Amino acid sequence: MFDFQYYAPTKVIFGKKALDKLGAQVKAFGGTRVLIHYGGQSALKSGLIDKVKKILDDEGIFHVELGGVVPNPHLGKVREGVKLATENDVDFLLAVGGGSVIDSCKAIGYAMADPDNEVWELFAHERSAKGCLPVASVLTISAAGSETSNSCVITNEETGEKRAYDDDLSRPKFAIMNPEFTMTLPAYQTASGCTDIMMHTMERYFVNGGNMELTDEIAEGLLRTVMKYAKILKDEPENYEARAEIMWAGSLAHNDLTGLGGVGGDFVSHMLEHELGGMFNVTHGAGLAAVWPSWARYVYKDCMHRFVRYAENVMGVKREAGMSDDDVALAGIAAMEEFYHAIDMPVNMKELGIEPTDEQIAELAAGCAKAVGGSRGSAKMLYEEDFAEIYRMAR
Ligand code: NZQ
Ligand code: ZN
Repeated sequence: MFDFQYYAPTKVIFGKKALDKLGAQVKAFGGTRVLIHYGGQSALKSGLIDKVKKILDDEGIFHVELGGVVPNPHLGKVREGVKLATENDVDFLLAVGGGSVIDSCKAIGYAMADPDNEVWELFAHERSAKGCLPVASVLTISAAGSETSNSCVITNEETGEKRAYDDDLSRPKFAIMNPEFTMTLPAYQTASGCTDIMMHTMERYFVNGGNMELTDEIAEGLLRTVMKYAKILKDEPENYEARAEIMWAGSLAHNDLTGLGGVGGDFVSHMLEHELGGMFNVTHGAGLAAVWPSWARYVYKDCMHRFVRYAENVMGVKREAGMSDDDVALAGIAAMEEFYHAIDMPVNMKELGIEPTDEQIAELAAGCAKAVGGSRGSAKMLYEEDFAEIYRMAR
């Protein structure tokens, strides 16, 4: 077990009546002039934006609004938000939506705290943030975990680069989490979300060194729980208990709890996906499902003990007489693919709906290498040529 710090300051307000607490929480965290930020249509259609505005009006809290955040959120929208928020002296950023909207808020928050510098430099890893305006969310999709994470992922739509910047400065102040708000999600988004939730814990699980028994047990329990309820939601999208289990798992999977005592995670699958998101605008979770099996088969021999444990404790693989560690690990990866198919997720890029050319694979691998500063990986240290090989395997 390695030394660790655990910083999970986000106040979670969970359940059917959570939204009632919104106005008081904005005030408690010092918000007096709020930017309400949201995505395309869903939060307008459900009436959630009107409800949020009414709650702020009733509390006498000034607000302006900016919709139109797209999945794989754009830098251009961040700039629009900065302009509007600056013109209106906004001091609090409220995301009504999912990871894309929350991340757009975080980026606006970074930019407003440091108006003299170009915000993209954070995502290009050229400097660190000086501050961040307070951010909070009314969550409408269980997936990215941005409601409690220190991560922010923005796409520069002009260059096609999708890049993450992690900093505790942007940890959200609070998250309003009513599982009912996620019942309108299309099945594909629900399944992609479940995939992403699992992957946030799997990235922390498939590491060499520094494991902690309690952390592993929490991680395995979370993964089994998400698999169980992801399958239930396929047939019963309005099952409250299932929505609630998945929603809470989404926040715990990415607030660092499931990696404590470890080396901080591998995160190569995420890096591989971010390049796909930047080039092909794929849904994040589905993109992860499309690359993970190939990544796993490429690296498992270098992280055998974790792949064996995963197969047995999470995927329920029974070691029969004569089975080697290799057989058990590969059976676990195959079982994971079966699970992805059971919830209609892809297991390769073709099933994801993209067929990158050789040139595009070279570009994806180069982008990935650039994003990670040359090499990355704990299950196995990987370089540009490895990234290219995994993309080829995932075709
Ligand atoms: O735009 P609207 O109309 O709202 O539709 C959204 C969007 O199309 C829809 N949706 C959301 N809530 C809904 C709903 N549709 C019906 N009913 C509802 N209640 O779902 C679609 C996806 O929304 P998005 O916010 O993009 O989803 P998600 O939470 O998966 O966020 C994905 C983004 O987060 C990044 C991803 O890379 C991607 O850019 N990530 C952020 C992380 C973080 N900040 O910690 C970590 C993750 O690993 C991830 O990289
Ligand atoms: Zn993710």
